Amino acid sequence: MKKACAWALAALVAGMALPASAQFAKAEDAVKYRQGAFTVLAQHFGRLGAMANGKAPFDAKAAQENGEVLALVAKLPWAAFGAGTEGGKAKPEIWKEQAKFNELSEKMQAETVKLAAAAKSGNLDQLKAAFGPAAASCKNCHDSFRNR
Ligand code: HEC
Repeated sequence: MKKACAWALAALVAGMALPASAQFAKAEDAVKYRQGAFTVLAQHFGRLGAMANGKAPFDAKAAQENGEVLALVAKLPWAAFGAGTEGGKAKPEIWKEQAKFNELSEKMQAETVKLAAAAKSGNLDQLKAAFGPAAASCKNCHDSFRNR
């Protein structure tokens, strides 16, 4: 009985701790997935940036929609950085300094949630105020962990 419980627990823990790379058949699939997610992210981020920087007219509905997509897509790339998925423009340091990488990814997700809330407010000044910190959260990670 005790043994069975231990097995069940081990299986449960193994299931939870399954490397994210297991979701992808090949490392290239993970690289494609995360690059695709970042590409979509950057598009919606750029649309908000254009409004925040006065390069596009402020459109409250478009801002809200882009903010919603941004906050959702900001959650996606990270599962595709599992063990054994080195490649693309990702620096190998990601797999050596995972705590730092995770911290930067969480910071960016928090900033995109704030940006989405600002985009939803219908207030251009709030959008402007939230855009800078969000952009900095992208750059902070790229400076350390992305090859140009
Ligand atoms: C925690 C780290 C991290 C954060 C935060 C981050 N990125 Fe990246 N980004 C990366 C890495 C690593 C790559 C390279 C991925 C690869 O090629 O495998 C990348 C690649 C990209 C690419 C290129 C995709 C391609 O097709 O090559 C774009 C565009 C991009 N990021 C945009 C953004 C934007 C916009 C934000 C902020 C909203 C952001 N990133 C936040 C780490 C990050």
